[in-house]
Amino acid sequence: MSQELLTRRRAFTELQALAEQQKPLVDLFSDDPRRAEKMTVAAGSLTLDFSKQRVTPEVLKTLEKLALEVDLPGRIAALFAGEKVNLSEDRAALHTALRAPSGKRPAGLEAVDEQLERMAALVEKVQSGVWRGFSGKRITDVVNLGVGGSDLGPLMVTQALREYTRPEATHLKVHFASTIDGSQLFDLLAHLNPETTLFTISSKSFTTIDTLSNADTVRAWLGGYCPDSELLHRCHFVGVSASAEKMTAWGLPEANQLYFWDWVGGRFSLWATIGLPIALALGMPVFRELLAGAHELDEHFRSAPPLENLPMLLALLGVWNVNCLDIRAHAILPYDGRLKYFPSYLEQLEMESNGKSVTREGVPLDYATCPVLWGEIGANAQHAFYQLLHQGTQAVASDFIIAASRYESMKDSAHYESLMTQHELNIANCLAQSRVLALGNAAVDPTDNPFRHYPGNQPSSSLVVDSLNARSLGALIALYEHKVYAQACLWGINPFDQWGVELGKQVAKELLPYLNNVGARSASDNRAGDCAPTMDSSTLNLSKLIQGGSNQ
Ligand code: F6P
Repeated sequence: MSQELLTRRRAFTELQALAEQQKPLVDLFSDDPRRAEKMTVAAGSLTLDFSKQRVTPEVLKTLEKLALEVDLPGRIAALFAGEKVNLSEDRAALHTALRAPSGKRPAGLEAVDEQLERMAALVEKVQSGVWRGFSGKRITDVVNLGVGGSDLGPLMVTQALREYTRPEATHLKVHFASTIDGSQLFDLLAHLNPETTLFTISSKSFTTIDTLSNADTVRAWLGGYCPDSELLHRCHFVGVSASAEKMTAWGLPEANQLYFWDWVGGRFSLWATIGLPIALALGMPVFRELLAGAHELDEHFRSAPPLENLPMLLALLGVWNVNCLDIRAHAILPYDGRLKYFPSYLEQLEMESNGKSVTREGVPLDYATCPVLWGEIGANAQHAFYQLLHQGTQAVASDFIIAASRYESMKDSAHYESLMTQHELNIANCLAQSRVLALGNAAVDPTDNPFRHYPGNQPSSSLVVDSLNARSLGALIALYEHKVYAQACLWGINPFDQWGVELGKQVAKELLPYLNNVGARSASDNRAGDCAPTMDSSTLNLSKLIQGGSNQ
């Protein structure tokens, strides 16, 4: 039996025993008036209050024991040193090297600076107007074509930091298109000017059909305005990938190619040249600040002891919730409209990384791993799914995220006071929700009024960001990245592969020729099964139904 299994750890057995003796949060708070003070930890611009988690000092000590039993410090050192922590793909996961100053990187990664400089030069050319479209006009719009890690990170950061856009970037509008059905492109192409639009094709593999089909549609669209294909590729496309050959094969000149490497996971790649849309939209200095903020958190992760270490704490509390309290759902609730895409970003980061059911060596697990994680801007979610959090039957752990100061740059404007009132309302809502989720309204007897009874005891963490800017956002993202890694170590799984995504892609490929066939026939033709004997009857019927519909 694998030593890596969580359930074989001594500290885990102790934690299970402690879970049996749990007291509700309302009692934990009344037992110790200094609870919040004792359970608040800071790292740079981030402060974590985990006092509303269902833990006692004894549970925390045992979680620390678990961290040491798993040798989290050793595993962290291995990650940073560039050891092959991604066993199933036999490679390192060195996203931390992308944001480290050159002197602090493992040897042999000089290409990191070289690509960053190439990216900066390209950004400069586009922003300054040296880069021109096919008819000689300046670029006004950029569309990033990418999906998953090649879309979500740049999209999330660009939205979050818009107010920090540097003067050199203000005239550029940056858009994102990821969906394979072409719907986002369809909307964008309807109002974009082909003469002044640049497309970044972002794909680590440069084989992802979602992205390449969007790129092909764009190329056809541009071809309708300029028949010179060489000119179009040179003036309207930039590729970002780990495969130079594939970018070249697609028609991209070498000067229009930016690279990154196999050892950067797709969902950890916004720090590499995949960050190009961020730099184009906000300015290269903002991108560099983002890297610096993430590096600060990296240093914290490497050096702070488990119970003062923010990523480790989030990871340990997550394991306590999932594996000891059986809480299998996790809500991400930013009380900040700028973090609109943060929940989707974390959905990929956490669930694609830790949605696994075998150990790093392939041994089946006998316990749960990543919970179902989803989220929404907190204040909006209050009017959508909070009812379930408050009075549903499902136990859910939540992360509340809020910035302490807001609208600093608006002090002289006429609506500053109103904005500050909104900020206070927002804080009040955030605090009220986490309080009610934790403590409920025990005073109301459920037998008197069952409809107005709030049971409480739903655990949450509150993360306070001093002020949301490039540096603190970099740290916030790195915090969750490291939480994911620490949690994977605790669960004994590999967070850096994603084999589960591959089969669906392969079956879609197999279905395509079959769909083409059905499309050429009538909907009533029941010979369809002959073309794809291995397909199930539901898939066959649905494809006939849909293709029949589209051909009537
Ligand atoms: O959906 C799986 C996935 O492989 C993600 O891990 C990745 O971020 C995304 O597809 C896009 O991949 P690529 O950057 O290679 O186009």
